[in-house]
Amino acid sequence: MEILPLTGGLGAEIVGADLKDASQFDAIKQAFTDYSVITLRGQSISPDDHLQFARRWGDINVNRFFAALDTHPEVALVVKEPDQTGAIGEEWHTDHAYDEIPAMGSILHAIETPPYGGDTVFCSMSAAYDGLSDKFKEILEGMSAWNSSRHVFGDSKPKSDTADSGRVGNTDLANQDALHPVVVKHPLSGRKVLYVNPQFTTQIDGLSKPESDSILNMLYVHGQKPEYQCRVRWQNGDVTMWDNRATWHKAINDYHGHRRYMHRVTVEGCALTAA
Ligand code: SIN
Repeated sequence: MEILPLTGGLGAEIVGADLKDASQFDAIKQAFTDYSVITLRGQSISPDDHLQFARRWGDINVNRFFAALDTHPEVALVVKEPDQTGAIGEEWHTDHAYDEIPAMGSILHAIETPPYGGDTVFCSMSAAYDGLSDKFKEILEGMSAWNSSRHVFGDSKPKSDTADSGRVGNTDLANQDALHPVVVKHPLSGRKVLYVNPQFTTQIDGLSKPESDSILNMLYVHGQKPEYQCRVRWQNGDVTMWDNRATWHKAINDYHGHRRYMHRVTVEGCALTAA
C-alpha cells in the first residue's frame, strides 16, 4: 500500500489497500494517527464489510438524526438527490461534539459521486492550535466550552431541505449539551488540539455571550486557514475516515442537479481530557 500525503496540514490518500484485509489494519491505523484524514481509494465493499472495518476501531455509534439503510440501521445515509438543494454537513463541524463522549471517527463510503464537485474539505485542529501564540494558547487551555445538538437538529433549528426531505429527523432526540475542554490532549497522537467548532459549539463556559463569541469567531477564522486544510475529491468506491477529535469538515454543495450517495458509519470514542 502507498500512503500519499494530501497537503502539509493533514490528510493522506492510501492507494493499493483493501479495508477488508485485517492484516493491513495496523498500517491503516498508523496512517490515521499520523494524518487524521485518510482516503482509501477504490474499495469494493458491502455495508457488512463497511461495518466490519468500523468494528476494528471500536463500537458503532448509531447516529440518531440521519436516515439509515433499512437493512443496516448502523449505516447512515448521506445523500443528495438531483432535485434537492441542501447537502448534509454543509457547515464546518465536528461530528458528535454535542455528545459527552464524542465519536472518535466517521467512515464515509462514496457509492455514487456527481460528475464534478461534492468534495469534502477538512481542517486540522492540531495545526490550528500550533499556529496560535504561546500566550493565547495558555489562556485557551484554562477554558471549557458548551456544545449542543439542539439548534442544529432540534425543533428550534432553521427550516431546511435536509429535514423537509426526511434525510435528517428525530428532532425530539436533540437534547444533548456537553461541556468539553477548549484544548484537548488527542487520545491517539497526544498532540494538543483545539476542540471547538462553528456548528455545534455554543459558548465558552463562564464568559458572557459577546466575550465568548469574539474568541470563538476569531478561532473559526483562524482554523479555516488554507494551510490547515485538505480537500478530498471523491471517486466511486473511495472510503474516507476522519478523526473527529482532530478535525473539522464541511461538505461542498456545488453539484446541483446531480446525485451524490454515500454510506456513513461512526465509531464510538472516549471522554476527552484537557491538554
Ligand atoms: C458529513 O458531514 O458527515 C458529510 C460529509 C460529506 O458528505 O462530505
